[in-house]
Amino acid sequence: MRSAPIGVFDSGMGGLSVLRALRAAMPHERLIYYGDNENAPYGTRTPQEICALSLQAAQLLMQKGVKALVVACNTATSAAEATLRARLNVPVVGIEPDFIAAREAAGEKKIVVFATRATLSLPRYREARLRLCPEAISISAPELVLMVERGVVAGPEPEAFFREKLAPWRDEIGAIVLGCTHFAFLRAPLHAVAPGVPLIDSIDRLTRSLRNVLTDINALAEDGAGGVELYSSARDPAVLARMHELLGENFP
Ligand code: DGL
Repeated sequence: MRSAPIGVFDSGMGGLSVLRALRAAMPHERLIYYGDNENAPYGTRTPQEICALSLQAAQLLMQKGVKALVVACNTATSAAEATLRARLNVPVVGIEPDFIAAREAAGEKKIVVFATRATLSLPRYREARLRLCPEAISISAPELVLMVERGVVAGPEPEAFFREKLAPWRDEIGAIVLGCTHFAFLRAPLHAVAPGVPLIDSIDRLTRSLRNVLTDINALAEDGAGGVELYSSARDPAVLARMHELLGENFP
């Protein structure tokens, strides 16, 4: 059990930001990543479509004998985590916007959440926002998902987008929630536009939850070199090349 791999999936490139963090935090684990790039973006699809695609991705990873499933996609967590939990016989850990961390970081200032249209409209987000942070400003950003899918993570394109979207609040912003794993790759342009504003991406929280879940079932790998395997639903070799590029040169 301890030596079985962990499955990680996202609609495409975004979950690689999670994969990178998991690899650093759990070096003995074997991680199998599936990016459903062919069907990205998920965020403009219906909840039913997102659920069906998530089940497909999960089944593919289950066939590889994973001991746990990481939903490295806020959109899939919102639409499908409950179904995945009910259908799979391994623990499922999903990522979602961290309002508590955002409130702590923002103090009295405003909180802006960037996420997909699906995430923002589904009950999971709406209820959490109402309960924890009703004043949060929610901005749907499908354009950013497409930029990251194309490998654009810096420069004038994302900076212009952030500048325009954040203009109404400018100096009033106390924290920005990256409510989509694709956006974790856009820290540099966000810092350029909103210098000094804390960016909250929930990845550490997800890593902690996964570690706790694996510890509880005695499945945490404690030795061995671990490793990473990457898969994509897109047949285009350029997509896999972009995945490696996003992970960075030093990624083992
Ligand atoms: N990376 C995903 C998320 O965390 C979804 C992006 C998309 O496919 O729309 O929400």
